[in-house]
Amino acid sequence: MDNGFPVHIGIIMDGNGRWAKRRGLPRVFGHKEGVKAVRRIVAHAAERGIKYLSLFAFSTENWNRPEEEVSALMRLLNDYLQKEINTIIEKGISLKVSGRISMLPKATQKKLMDAVEISRDNKRMTLNLCLSYGGRAEIIDAAAQIAKDVKNGILNIEDIESKFSDYLYNPDIPNIDLLIRTSGEQRISNFMLYRVAYSELYFTQTLWPGFYEDEFDLAIDEYMTRRRRFGKTDEQIYDKGQI
Ligand code: FPP
Repeated sequence: MDNGFPVHIGIIMDGNGRWAKRRGLPRVFGHKEGVKAVRRIVAHAAERGIKYLSLFAFSTENWNRPEEEVSALMRLLNDYLQKEINTIIEKGISLKVSGRISMLPKATQKKLMDAVEISRDNKRMTLNLCLSYGGRAEIIDAAAQIAKDVKNGILNIEDIESKFSDYLYNPDIPNIDLLIRTSGEQRISNFMLYRVAYSELYFTQTLWPGFYEDEFDLAIDEYMTRRRRFGKTDEQIYDKGQI
């Protein structure tokens, strides 16, 4: 028995810089082309019936890049939100943002919050933009809130395990079924650590600006042939017809 269709796909969109460098262009050109890839993959994922798509657009570590590159990325993000919000709404997509958002420029925060608000009732697909995002930071932020809630008698220590995921950013977003990383690197790089525990991984040499719909479909096809066991035996999972 094969896997069902993936519900939640995460993508580590890597290789923009190298894409530009290979063409003798400044890195920011790679990011611009990367935005085009974001547009086509978001539209395609919604068409394919993916319910949740999480994109790693800017990590907590990315703040350490040259200031020029950080501001270019922020400009591209503002631009994307401005130009794309109508399409996002038309396509029935609801936008969510995960990360330490208060570190983003105020104007960007406002645009993001507005976009989240006006798209919140859309049901076709959730687009989760991970910005100023770190997987350890997410777990640490959850732990800090859990400590406060335990101290204030809102949460019992015995319930921490069953309630932990309620403390993550956007707790309604489920675990990642399929994690795609472009550009040949084979690392998790601090992406959604809690939710990738049992993800199937798909690595490709393709640089993010060169990632098209056909390869997204290939990754889904490959996912559907994988046998997920979640720590159990093959017989336990597949002979009883349960996943
Ligand atoms: C990794 O490539 C990519 C990033 C750090 C940023 C990803 C951003 C985008 C795709 C565009 C902005 C996104 C949105 C949602 C508008 P890299 O620069 O690390 O590439 P390299 O490893 O080749 O240097």
